[in-house]
Amino acid sequence: MIVEPKVKGFICTTAHPLGCSKNVEKQIKYVKNNGAINGAKKVLVIGASTGYGLASRIVTAFGMGAATIGVAFEREASGKRTATPGFYNTRAFDEAAKKEGLYAKSFNGDAFSVDMKQQVIETIKQDLGKVDLIVYSLAAPRRTTPDGVNHISVLKTRGCEFTQKNWNLRDDSISEATIPMATEEETEETIKVMGGEDWIDWIDALTAADVVEDNAVTIAYSYIGPKLTYPIYHEGTIGMAKQHLANSAVAITKKQEAKGIKAYVSVNKALVTQASAAIPVVPLYLSVLYKVMKEKGVHEGCIEQIYRLFSDKVYGENGVVVEPDGMLHVDDWEMREDVQNEVMDIWKKIDSDNLMELADTEGYWNDFYQMFGFKVDGVNYQAEVPDELI
Ligand code: NAI
Repeated sequence: MIVEPKVKGFICTTAHPLGCSKNVEKQIKYVKNNGAINGAKKVLVIGASTGYGLASRIVTAFGMGAATIGVAFEREASGKRTATPGFYNTRAFDEAAKKEGLYAKSFNGDAFSVDMKQQVIETIKQDLGKVDLIVYSLAAPRRTTPDGVNHISVLKTRGCEFTQKNWNLRDDSISEATIPMATEEETEETIKVMGGEDWIDWIDALTAADVVEDNAVTIAYSYIGPKLTYPIYHEGTIGMAKQHLANSAVAITKKQEAKGIKAYVSVNKALVTQASAAIPVVPLYLSVLYKVMKEKGVHEGCIEQIYRLFSDKVYGENGVVVEPDGMLHVDDWEMREDVQNEVMDIWKKIDSDNLMELADTEGYWNDFYQMFGFKVDGVNYQAEVPDELI
């Protein structure tokens, strides 16, 4: 069948298998061109199929020669419906790793479940013995806790509602979006889903089963961003969950002191991924940020961010580079004063008439389509995709 993009707002309901595969190939190439990192050897990535998690798996496998186990929750194809991009990315990753003689095992299922943790532990025991790096990169809208209760996260403000410029992705107009205020219960629910509780559960389960090396490292990803987005992100419901994640890093390190296992939060750059495209206001900020960072030659995608994280801030010559706030930062270029000043100048001026000129909307859409395997160089989108690849 011929696979075409079907975009609805911030989501695309189809994915192109060959485009996704090409994306993975390009990321692998980037890592190989940038040279080997003397880092982890046996790695577990939770949330390994797209965005930052996929990049982490690619950097550790192809940059460090590590054996990797990946966990993700993706939908397979059914009938005329394609699979989700993460499904195709994982398949492409597994094939590339196999070709290279690298161990790779991928699980498709709910990382929040006790059962998935058990399956992963059994596999580590059988195939790897122990792991020395655990990356926690889940972005999920809901979580079922081990007691069977469903929790749903919301992207809302706290204290009062928030009105800010917003890019209407359907008609390329700029209007204002008002983000409603969360109840205390909604904040608690978001913390349950996107906070560090499940990260702690993973580390507890893995260490109890004795499948983590002494002095191993575990890293989870976070975002802070500029004051402009504080009400919706850093000080909103998701920000509270990220605060919980940061506190969880401290708690894990303390609990694992005897084994020397250290937990870190890495604050990464804002990028177009399935998780970030869904947040109001953020797509406009992203397209302005892209414009400024590209003009200054400091724009990075997931793979560049994660390569820099591991090569410079985790396994570099200075060891783990912890900033005064206790976290690792690869959002340093995004948060540079000159970058943020220009972003804010543009923000004040931007409207429906000058959007195309002042923001990198093309870059935003390219990243968006590419996430689903479309608009990728070297793929013939007019060609039928064989059934066995769907
Ligand atoms: P993403 O949507 O590209 O990836 C999420 C991953 O989680 C996928 O592999 C997906 O399959 C997996 N997943 C979701 N629910 C699951 C479940 N129940 N069981 C197993 N796997 C599940 O998201 P992205 O953007 O890469 O986010 C990863 C982390 O990075 C998040 O913590 C996010 O907050 C953080 N981050 C994202 C930034 C951005 O701009 N995109 C910036 C800084 C941090």
